[in-house]
Amino acid sequence: MSKGIDTHPRATPRLELRPFRRRDLESLWEAVHDSWPELAKWLPWAHAGYGRLEAIRFIRESGSAWVEGRAFDFAIRDLADPTRHLGNISVWSTSKRERSGEIGYWVRSSATGAGVATEAAARVARVGFEELDMHRITLRIAVGNRGSERVAEKLGFTKEGLLRKEVLVHGVWLDHTLWALLEDEYRREAPRWVAEGIA
Ligand SMILES: CC(C)(COP(=O)(O)OP(=O)(O)OC[C@H]1O[C@@H](n2cnc3c(N)ncnc32)[C@H](O)[C@@H]1OP(=O)(O)O)[C@@H](O)C(=O)NCCC(=O)NCCS
Repeated sequence: MSKGIDTHPRATPRLELRPFRRRDLESLWEAVHDSWPELAKWLPWAHAGYGRLEAIRFIRESGSAWVEGRAFDFAIRDLADPTRHLGNISVWSTSKRERSGEIGYWVRSSATGAGVATEAAARVARVGFEELDMHRITLRIAVGNRGSERVAEKLGFTKEGLLRKEVLVHGVWLDHTLWALLEDEYRREAPRWVAEGIA
């Protein structure tokens, strides 16, 4: 698996996915601040007092991770209104030897239910398989997070099993289900994504 990928924006039918910039601080903070009650149900880092310092730390760490090939975080923006932060999506390697990776995402609460996560995840899966040469990409989804399960289902991921008490979220260990898409499945699914306007 190659170490890195370049920083050009990746487009989808409605979205632009691009690396974070320092000037994203305010729009990132605002999106998290507006959405924290929904995010905090499933994500350990989200909380009521999420501050600009946390946002700038995230942006800095994201830049280093990209340069070092550890993780690739994308800001999700609407092509029609690129100043508004819609959410984050990331892909990272979980095993170089097995060429496997994982995708994680969130979408601001005022933009959910419009297919943003599905469209962004389809594009980032393409980055994983076509640019990072991945063989298998997984999603870990908390039990009860039906919205995220729908994203996995719509993209054709297979539910493989249960990870018991996998992530500690605000003092509670949450069970997660593990979903995966294999390289050959991606080759079969990708034309459908295009036909359905997801990619
Ligand atoms: C989960 C999340 C990423 C979904 O983002 P999104 O942009 O709304 O996703 P999409 O619109 O592409 O797809 C969501 C699907 O779930 C469905 N859905 C959402 N909430 C649901 C619920 N409570 N019950 C049933 N279906 C639900 C939507 O109707 C849609 O399905 P459809 O297209 O068949 O109608 C977003 O809600 C979010 O960021 N949640 C908080 C953080 C999080 O859970 N991150 C993922 C961790 S694995």
